Amino acid sequence: MPTILDGKTAAQVIKAEIAQKVEAIKASNKKIPHLAAILIGNDAASHTYVKNKIHTCKEVGFQSTLIQYDDLGERALLEIIDTVNKNETIDGLIVQLPLPVHIDVQNVVNHLKPEKDVDGFHPFNYGRMACQLPTHIPATPLGILELLKRYKIKTAGQYCVIVGKSRIVGAPLSILMSRAGYPGNATVTLCDKLTRDIGIFTRKADILITAIGKPGLITAAMVKEGVVVIDVGITRVPDTTKKVGFTLKGDVDFDNVMPKCSYITPVPGGVGPMTVTSLLLNTLRAAQKKVYSE
Ligand code: GUN
Repeated sequence: MPTILDGKTAAQVIKAEIAQKVEAIKASNKKIPHLAAILIGNDAASHTYVKNKIHTCKEVGFQSTLIQYDDLGERALLEIIDTVNKNETIDGLIVQLPLPVHIDVQNVVNHLKPEKDVDGFHPFNYGRMACQLPTHIPATPLGILELLKRYKIKTAGQYCVIVGKSRIVGAPLSILMSRAGYPGNATVTLCDKLTRDIGIFTRKADILITAIGKPGLITAAMVKEGVVVIDVGITRVPDTTKKVGFTLKGDVDFDNVMPKCSYITPVPGGVGPMTVTSLLLNTLRAAQKKVYSE
């Protein structure tokens, strides 16, 4: 029987641990961690994600600041980032992606003060991650590594196929899964939408991680018996039977793939909650000035 990787419960345990640390910080009269989030535009999913991040900050006792605009030019955004970079009360800053098309994401990421870049997207942090030095690790990959660890899933020598090459998930995860140590030491293939036949790769995968945003892309015929499946896809599919008007679907045809798996994440309740707790852990390390030391 497959084991469901329960990110929701794991995240609750981690949040309780963070909340305890915040209590200890308060008791010693130190400054509580403070996360700022910049949200530009009206992408509905981004609004939900950021709302959830701010809500979770409140749950664990962090301070949070939401900086929100319907639209903004790149120069104005860089000036806001400068202000946050200089604000000593703020420990961590995220700029929610995707950004409106007229803003160059790499320019924005380059502008973040690396210590406050709790997404781990700045080239300095990304380079340190590749070199296996202490740094901020992007939140979704960090959450996935934590799930693999909590369920003691073997990664060394395993064939890991990642579908999706994004800066947020696939690209950093390919580095992390191939690095030395645990979880890591895997043999990694990175596929994307240009890969001619992803089934050739997915059918051989011991660990399959999908982050492409195409509901039902991974069918039962595309995986082998005993595979570990991590589904990062989260797409709103219209559903008139639901009050909100949509259902969240992963990239994996869950009902048919699940019986072949040794482990599988559900959507929702798998990777999503782990992403938010990872962001909080990065913010805590930034507040404690531990980003480049441990
Ligand atoms: N959009 C979707 N996931 C993320 C994330 O982890 N960080 C940022 N900044 N934007 C996102």
